[in-house]
Amino acid sequence: MSLLDTHMVGAARERLKLTQARMRENNARFGAWFNRIMPKGLYARSLIIIVTPMVILQSVLAFVFMERHYNTVTRRLSAAVSQDITAIADLAVSFPTPEDQERIRQIAQTTMGLTIDFQPGERLPPPGTKPFFSILDSAFTGELGKRLGRPFWTDTVGRSNLIEVRVQLDGTVMRVFARRSQAYLSNSHIFLVWMVGTSLVLLGVAIVFLRNQIKPIEALADAAIAFGKGRDVSGFRPRGAREVRGAALAFLEMRRRIERQIEQRTTMLAGVSHDMRTILTRFKLELALMGDTPDTDALRKDVDELQSMLEAYLAFARDDTGEAPVVADIARIIDDTRFNAERHGAKVTASFTGDPMVMIRADAFRRCLANLAANAWRHGTRMEITGTRDDRWLIVTVDDDGPGIPAAKREDVFRPFVRLDNARNQDAGGSGLGLTIARDAARSHGGDVSLSDSPLGGLRAMVRIPV
Ligand SMILES: Nc1ncnc2c1ncn2[C@@H]1O[C@H](COP(=O)(O)OP(=O)(O)OP(=O)(O)O)[C@@H](O)[C@H]1O
Ligand SMILES: [Mg+2]
Repeated sequence: MSLLDTHMVGAARERLKLTQARMRENNARFGAWFNRIMPKGLYARSLIIIVTPMVILQSVLAFVFMERHYNTVTRRLSAAVSQDITAIADLAVSFPTPEDQERIRQIAQTTMGLTIDFQPGERLPPPGTKPFFSILDSAFTGELGKRLGRPFWTDTVGRSNLIEVRVQLDGTVMRVFARRSQAYLSNSHIFLVWMVGTSLVLLGVAIVFLRNQIKPIEALADAAIAFGKGRDVSGFRPRGAREVRGAALAFLEMRRRIERQIEQRTTMLAGVSHDMRTILTRFKLELALMGDTPDTDALRKDVDELQSMLEAYLAFARDDTGEAPVVADIARIIDDTRFNAERHGAKVTASFTGDPMVMIRADAFRRCLANLAANAWRHGTRMEITGTRDDRWLIVTVDDDGPGIPAAKREDVFRPFVRLDNARNQDAGGSGLGLTIARDAARSHGGDVSLSDSPLGGLRAMVRIPV
């Protein structure tokens, strides 16, 4: 390959790539647009899946039927009637005596179903207005014009179920009445009525069935959401189609496993703490027997600290027993927290906006706020508790003007027994479980506690709980 060829192939490949990229982009844009206009709910989507093919199928059917079948049949019927009329007109011209005409009238009536009379000396009336949209009129007058070869006048519009034709014979006007149904597929609208009627019935059935299919899915979603928020889902039963039932059973199994795990953790914690407490008591007893020396003094202090840690752990483990959620007044809980903090000498402002009644594990939430508030008044002098509730979240922030926590340590302090102020003051403060307890309570509601800088200069602790 020459250099030029190579170059051209390269350019073509580039162009191809560009086109492909553009097509992909267009596809993506179309997909996004389609997703935007489609309804989001499963119910609406399934209805569309059912209704769309039905409507398309019926429209095509109706169109083909009207266009083909209906047109052809109407044309054939019109042709037949106009042939009859032409034959009679020819006969009437060939046999003009009144007796013959009477005979012709009788034959037309009995064999062709046409009512005829002759009006000697009459002329045709001026042509009436054409109906705008009638296949019958155009088909019929067309056929008649092709065959008859005489002046004629038609009235296909009248409300009655007859059509009228007048034909100019030599000196007379022959008036013919035919039944509308003779020349025209008159009850074809019945077809449409049946079609639309049946599809409405089908749609109704589909709606009822769909609703029954979708209810279990909604129930499963609700149960999963409620479980995530730590609420009771004992009323939930698997129902519906096999797959939905399978998912529901899997959810229940998962819930059972999680609950068992929590229970196991709690029992183990309680067990360990309890066993160690027994040993610690023995320890203390032995220390007491050893008498007072500086060595035993230090040892005793350590043992005391260990014991208070254990007590705290035990309390934490006990707290964890599933408390049932109730509707509680958050504004009141915040106010109580403020009151407690003020008793400890802090300057507190508290506020709450939004609907204060929230489904919550009230004691756990109270404990959560109490721990955050205790940290705030222990480390600062001024604090601010702000609660807001919208349709998705309950958010409570506790701000203080203390030293704060460096960003790198903000995850560590949530671990049990982690205390930063060990160096600052050994004796004050608790066991280092406060933030652990607070986070545990928030998480049992499907929420969380996070720490950040406060506008007051210290730490901001924020509790977020889905409602
Ligand atoms: N508002 C705050 N300002 C500065 N430091 C804080 C604040 N809150 C917590 N801390 C730091 O985080 C550590 C962990 O807090 P946590 O509440 O878990 O334990 P604690 O307060 O020491 O003990 P407890 O809450 O069990 O009585 C604290 O020792 C403290 O150093
Ligand atoms: Mg604390």
